[in-house]
Amino acid sequence: MDNRLEEIISSFQKVSGKITLLTGAGISAESGLPTFRGKDGYWKLGSKEYRPEEMATMRMFRQAPYEVWYWYLYRRSIYGNAEPNQGHTAIAELERIYQNSFTLITQNVDGLHLKGGNSPERTFQIHGNINFMRCLNNCSNKLIPIPKDIFYTDRDGQISEEDKERLVCPDCGSITRPHILWFDESYNEQFYRFETSIKTASETDLLIVVGTSGGTTLPIHIGSIVTNRGGYIIDINLEENRFSDMAKAASKGCALRGKSGDILPKIAELLSK
Ligand code: APR
Repeated sequence: MDNRLEEIISSFQKVSGKITLLTGAGISAESGLPTFRGKDGYWKLGSKEYRPEEMATMRMFRQAPYEVWYWYLYRRSIYGNAEPNQGHTAIAELERIYQNSFTLITQNVDGLHLKGGNSPERTFQIHGNINFMRCLNNCSNKLIPIPKDIFYTDRDGQISEEDKERLVCPDCGSITRPHILWFDESYNEQFYRFETSIKTASETDLLIVVGTSGGTTLPIHIGSIVTNRGGYIIDINLEENRFSDMAKAASKGCALRGKSGDILPKIAELLSK
């Protein structure tokens, strides 16, 4: 493996500092899930009638709630069949090694990191989790598990009347919404761990970025905080992206081209020595 990588890892091990993993859709690609901006990505496909960037908005939800709900329930049904891959397992192993010095910040809503063994306490799901819903009227902050048997595997279909009645808040009876951060909404601490993520970045000595194109603001901010403080940064991706640019520009960075399922186990092994 890359000399630069070994250099970075051995210098990081000398400081025995804090490690943060920042992941995107690319890590789940080897579990069979489409990314967002890839060729068959969700942002390229959308639903039957709407463009994808319209679907993930509160504006669209207000206009056509069950159309939006269906799109998420369909994606959730696909995600539900997926299993964590070697990349997820390696990240779970890093949490076992580094414990309280480890944090995982993920943009993925597929829940595969938790299924792969990372703990909910040390996993910040900054864009939500597709397995949960919450009250549209915010009558409480409760995250409500979506019943497992609400399952739709046809890309274009409709929610049954019976299921619509189950997508309601148990406390006030209002319609629920998917627990997902939409494009016309802002990050916050309460649901998406915004401030805690910034604080974590400001204490991170080694940031490993995996499978993300860098199209959203908080992840880019996290990368800048770590590199501006002189922290180590490793980017793992099939392609050039904003984090590989950041890693190449940083004095303590390295950009690795390849599949996360191949590279992460090797990094976990180096970090476990
Ligand atoms: N290993 C490593 N990287 C991979 C792999 C793989 N096996 N497969 C794909 N990739 C990389 C792609 O090269 C690309 O850079 O994963 C990245 C996926 O990028 P996007 O589709 O843009 O997904 P992501 O960066 O997670 O999107 C961020 O944007 O639309 C919002 O909320 C949505 O959470 C999402 C956020």
